[in-house]
This record gives sequence, C-alpha cells and structure tokens, in this order.
Amino acid sequence: MGKAVLPSTSDLTTLETDILQEIAEAHDLNALENTRVAALGKKGRISALMKTLGQMAPEERKAFGQSVNKIKLTVSEALDMRKADLAHAAMSERLATERADITLPVRPGALNDGRIHPVSQVMDEITEIFADMGFSIAEGPEIETDDYNFTKLNIPKEHPARQEHDTFYLADRDDGTRLVLRTHTSPVQIRTMEANDPPIRVIAPGRVYRCDSDQTHTPMFHQVEGLVIDEDTHMGHLKWVLEEFAKSFFEIDNVEMRFRASHFPFTEPSMEVDIRYSKRGDELRIGEGDDWMEILGCGMVHPKVLEHVGYDPKKLQGFAFGVGIDRLAMLKYGMPDLRAFFAADLRWLKHYGFRTFDVPTLAGGLSS
Ligand code: PHE
Repeated sequence: MGKAVLPSTSDLTTLETDILQEIAEAHDLNALENTRVAALGKKGRISALMKTLGQMAPEERKAFGQSVNKIKLTVSEALDMRKADLAHAAMSERLATERADITLPVRPGALNDGRIHPVSQVMDEITEIFADMGFSIAEGPEIETDDYNFTKLNIPKEHPARQEHDTFYLADRDDGTRLVLRTHTSPVQIRTMEANDPPIRVIAPGRVYRCDSDQTHTPMFHQVEGLVIDEDTHMGHLKWVLEEFAKSFFEIDNVEMRFRASHFPFTEPSMEVDIRYSKRGDELRIGEGDDWMEILGCGMVHPKVLEHVGYDPKKLQGFAFGVGIDRLAMLKYGMPDLRAFFAADLRWLKHYGFRTFDVPTLAGGLSS
C-alpha cells in the first residue's frame, strides 16, 4: 500500500468544512442524525480516517491522530449546537401552530344557541345571595308523605288548610297512608330539623305542585324555603334577611315591600310579603306603580313544629319563609304570564333565556 492513499492535511480541512456545512444545512433533527452517523458512526467518514492510522509511521500517526481528534471534537460541538437550535425551532413552531386563542368568541353551535331558563337563572341568583349570607342548601323529595307535607307542619287531618292547598294526591297505600305531590317546600323544614342539630340556617329551592292554573298560577311552580333556628333568632332578623335579599335580588335600592299579617299553621305570628310593581301593557316594573304582587309567606316557626322534630321550644326559636321563585322571575325580568314559563316555546326561551356562560355572581353581577 503506497503513501499516496493516505489522507493529507488539506484533505482533513476539506472534510471538516464539508461536514460542518452538512450540519448547518440539516433542516430537521432527522437529517442531522443522518449527518452524524455519516461522520462519526462506525462506518462514518471520520471513523474511516482513524482506521488509516495503523498504516502510518509513528511520527506521522501522532500528529495525524491529534488532527482527527480535533475535527471530531469540532464536529461533535457543531452537532450539539445544531441539535439545540433545531429542537428550539421545533418547539417554537409547535407553540405557534398549536396556540389556542382563548379570547375568540364562542363558535356557533349548541353551547351558544342554548339558553338557561329564567327559573334556573333566578334559582342560581337566589342561591348566590343566600350563600353569601351563610345559608346552606337543603333538599327534600317532591313526592311527600301526608305527614311531612301537613301533619308535622301543624296541619292535622281535617284542618281547613289542607283544602286550600289544592293537593294532588297519589292513590292510598296498603297501610292506609297516602303520598302527595308536595304543595310547598315547607316539608324540607321538618326533614332538615330532624336530621340536624341547631343552629340551622338553610334554604331549600325546588318544585311544588298545586291543582291551580291562571295567569299567575301553574300546577307546578317553584319555591325556595328558608329556615333559621337558634336560641335568640327573632322577627327583626327575619325582616332584615328578607329586605337584604330583595335589594340584592332586584339589584335596586328602592324595592318597596309590604308585610301583611297572615296565617300559616306552622308559623306564629305569620306574614305575607308583597312587592310594589306596575304593569304597563305587557311590561312589569318594580319599585313603582300601584299594584302589589305577593311573593312570599313567612313567620316565626310554631312551637308545635319544633316539638314535632324533638326541639325544645323553650330553648330554641327561629323563622321560616317560602318564596315563590316564578313570581320573582316575572317581576325581575318583566314577564307577564306565568304559563309561558312552562309552555316550552323556543321563541320565548330565546327571548327571555340567559346565555350558558353568564353565571350569576354577586361580584360579577347577578343578571349581567
Ligand atoms: N309554605 C307556605 C306556602 O306555600 C309559605 C311559608 C313558608 C309560610 C314558610 C311561612 C313559612 O304558602
């Protein structure tokens, strides 16, 4: 083998320049890896040079070996730098192409077309207000026993109040008892007191049923019950809570409320509360006008009711209220006919309904 086949110093320089150029031109991580293998791999060009060392004279071998090692180092460094650059570029590209613009408006579609029913909206608004006052949520069944709907609330059998409730009865059961569709949310008072020790501070929103239908009555409607029991809760607290609630709910300061003496078997004394409003054509407005709409019944929980749940009326007292949610919705959003609420007319829902993402909060505005 002649000397001529051995690479010269200028060959080394050309090789280095070639490889560095290839590295610079590698346009992605794959191409770069191919370049690396072609240069430094077992059968790569630099490795091939090392194999020629054996044929060289010892003096030559040393200097040549050092030169090859230098190239190896330079090439390795260039590979590392290019690799870091390409990885960075790949990441930047992903960030640019996979970016989500969260400020874009919602696309047309179900989420945007759908509307929250005003009753659901108003329930959320009410819940938000009472949660802020420290009330928690209680629930009870819509199919109730006669006992919970009436007897435990101090409405014994044959009491005239039973007729006033226009009750939907289910068929008698074998044991002679019967179930009813609850005529009010007040049975949740009993269930809550039976299951919890005082102090109590709850609201209970839900559906109730009465056999009745006209412009302001439907056979199914919604109430929210309120119950506060403690050792020295009094009527001043009741009035304050209702007034604060009305101001927050209607989002105006001049809500005029009228407290009228009334009668409920489960409260003593009892009151009904009306709100001043006006009706112009098909529009309802609150805080003005000569009409009054009854929105709730309330009072101090009757000692007999406390006794029925095992509370000591000498130590404990409190108040309860039952608000008509649909009536509140009519007043606040100016909807004149309650029956339209449950007619499932999409045009009505589009007009009076609320957007899915407009969740009522006290901080962000209840109905904004
Ligand atoms: N349950 C009563 C009704 O439906 C309202 C009410 C609740 C009255 C709580 C007093 C206390 O008319």
